[in-house]
Amino acid sequence: MTNESNRRTAWSALSVQGERLKTTTLHTLFQSDARRAENYSLEAAGLFLDYSKNRLDVPAREALLDLARATGVEARRDAMFAGERINVTENRSVLHTALRDQTSGRLEVDGSDILESIRAVRSRTYAFADRIRSGDWLGHTGKSIDAVVNIGIGGSDLGPRMVCEALHAFAHPRLQMHFVANIDGAALVDVLAKVDAERTLFIVASKTFTTIETLTNAQSARAWFLSTGAKEADIARHFVAVSTNISAVKAFGIDAENMFPFWDWVGGRYSLWSPIGLSIIISIGPENFDRLLGGAHAMDVHFCTAPLESNMPVILGLLGVWYRNVFDACSMAVLPYSEHLQRLPAYLQQLDMESNGKSATMQGTLVEHATGPIIWGEPGTNGQHAFFQLLHQGTQLVPIDFILPVRPTHGLAGHHELLVANCLAQSSALMEGKSAEEVKKSMESAGHSPAEVERLALHRVFPGNRPSNTILLDQLDAASLGALIALYEHKVFVQGVIWNINSFDQWGVELGKIAATKIGEAMRSPELPRNFDPSTRQLLERCMARRS
Ligand code: F6P
Repeated sequence: MTNESNRRTAWSALSVQGERLKTTTLHTLFQSDARRAENYSLEAAGLFLDYSKNRLDVPAREALLDLARATGVEARRDAMFAGERINVTENRSVLHTALRDQTSGRLEVDGSDILESIRAVRSRTYAFADRIRSGDWLGHTGKSIDAVVNIGIGGSDLGPRMVCEALHAFAHPRLQMHFVANIDGAALVDVLAKVDAERTLFIVASKTFTTIETLTNAQSARAWFLSTGAKEADIARHFVAVSTNISAVKAFGIDAENMFPFWDWVGGRYSLWSPIGLSIIISIGPENFDRLLGGAHAMDVHFCTAPLESNMPVILGLLGVWYRNVFDACSMAVLPYSEHLQRLPAYLQQLDMESNGKSATMQGTLVEHATGPIIWGEPGTNGQHAFFQLLHQGTQLVPIDFILPVRPTHGLAGHHELLVANCLAQSSALMEGKSAEEVKKSMESAGHSPAEVERLALHRVFPGNRPSNTILLDQLDAASLGALIALYEHKVFVQGVIWNINSFDQWGVELGKIAATKIGEAMRSPELPRNFDPSTRQLLERCMARRS
């Protein structure tokens, strides 16, 4: 059989399994396998995954694994780790995994050892972060730094912002971390109101150094800094840049000495492991950053070596394909039961939706299967009092990942037990539901009249059978967070291979940028050009009229 016919056979076998299981309940699946919980659980890199509450049995899991084999997941994974140019539309290697490889090995790409240059840049970055943390790096008036403002957007913001917040318990007590992404001036103005120019370090983080939001925010921050009485020469004590574009950094006025370079084989949304993570390193320190890298590397090793059936990213990726393509689930929720992981859903939105929100195959034809779902989420228990209504009783199937640190990073009595109890209760209730008979019985015993029971019963029924994964972290620390992020990176990768798309480009963001430039030019021209669609022209005219 050719690869193509293998692929087709695997997809058809999967839909046969789906048809069979669409009428089977989770309840029945648990009844038919006394060891289901253990049989559908995995441990890797310090994480525990229970995926038993999924509408899946052994033949369905086999069909999914066959699909992974037929679509060449292992070969593409090996190609990625070896540095092959798997980002075919940009002709680039994809080597963010090399950034967390702290072994003393070599990895040749285009004739040079990239691990060597990673180590050199990392030690420069660590040395700089140490100077900020120790108070040795002084601002232009001789004061130590107490605030760091990361100016970046997308991958140059979401990763560092999410990790700094997640690892807040490990943050340096003197250093306040701030993040400015939005072109809305309110973002920068709010942060500038909180910091003292003499004691602030600005990190201008941009892979390309062409992103309009970042450059505009950086220009405004620079102007504000100078307006506080500082001189041009003082900029070097307060502005550093992280980028792959040395000439653009120089043109902006930041000295090469104050620049931390990285490489085009690091995708923006995969870049927190590179010097783009400078704000993280300053906040939690090099040792903790090493632990973050270590946790991610442990997941990389697991991903590369574990057989497919016990490979956590592969299983998570296959479950996503199962619900997206067989059960037609359009979205999936990521619900961290952890206040400090509140930015994780936003981070995963970029990781997943910018990677797999594609309609063209690797060969440049239209995809035949639905690709990436909409990712969304909020921390528990907050979400329970907001959108969980839809998860329990709405008409759509929304697969969920619950993420739960088992031990707290605080010492407040009573809270963590309640947090754990709520997380476990939700996945159980979503699965078990509550039948009409149960509802009627409990209403009758509470003294409701038969007419009332009839009228209200259906409102209180929970259909159940709603699938979820639960991922346990021992504690939210640098190592477990590193493993968790790498888990999702590889999950997204696996799905991209199965859907035969390039998960590493992002052409879909370009059109809006071009349109914004045109509209911006129109707003500055004396007369509005006519070549906009009628709706856009009307909105533009109205905005212009109100502004003037
Ligand atoms: O517009 C999308 C994007 O290119 C993302 O992929 C990227 O993370 C973000 O913009 C920021 O890009 P840069 O780091 O080059 O400023």
